[in-house]
Amino acid sequence: MEQTKVAKPETLNDLIKVLHQIFSSDTVNVEEVQNLMESYESKPQEWKAYAKFDKFRYTRNLVDEGNGKFNLIILCWGEGHGSSIHDHTDSHCFMKLLQGQLKETLFEWPDNKINGGMTKKSERILHQNQCAYINDSIGLHRVENVSHTEPAVSLHLYSPQFDHCNTFDQSTGHRNTVKMTFWSKYGEKIPVETTVSQENN
Ligand SMILES: [Fe+2]
Repeated sequence: MEQTKVAKPETLNDLIKVLHQIFSSDTVNVEEVQNLMESYESKPQEWKAYAKFDKFRYTRNLVDEGNGKFNLIILCWGEGHGSSIHDHTDSHCFMKLLQGQLKETLFEWPDNKINGGMTKKSERILHQNQCAYINDSIGLHRVENVSHTEPAVSLHLYSPQFDHCNTFDQSTGHRNTVKMTFWSKYGEKIPVETTVSQENN
């Protein structure tokens, strides 16, 4: 087995630098990226400029466009905020907890021939500094901050980038294609597009 050990990044900027190096190659070693993201010890002063919360729903805040190879996004989850069940548009999705905890529930893809509820595969709580991974062959997921007292912040890497995904109704399995939007880019708030529904991922 090839070694997937990488040097521990001391800062968020270090982490971004190493991610640029890793993704300059055409193949992605999932375990290497996951280990790397997990090894960064979250320090709020390094990411707080990107962490912009909304009272009503979780926000997506663009941190880096990864030389066109990936998007690095910080998601801010207020108490009780959660995503719909969604897919990942054939991309890799890494999700690292920077602060607080998130519950991830995995679902199977709905059977198009059967109009019924979706099958839950598993659920788990992700803790600070943990890094989860999902892609469409693993299934679909819902992510939630179930805490009533603590906000949560997570760092997501999507490769390749995508701006549409499908969301799924848990009781029927019906899908909807949604456009994903940013709440801020590089620490600057983006004016809200009132005509487009915001869906996160
Ligand atoms: Fe996701």
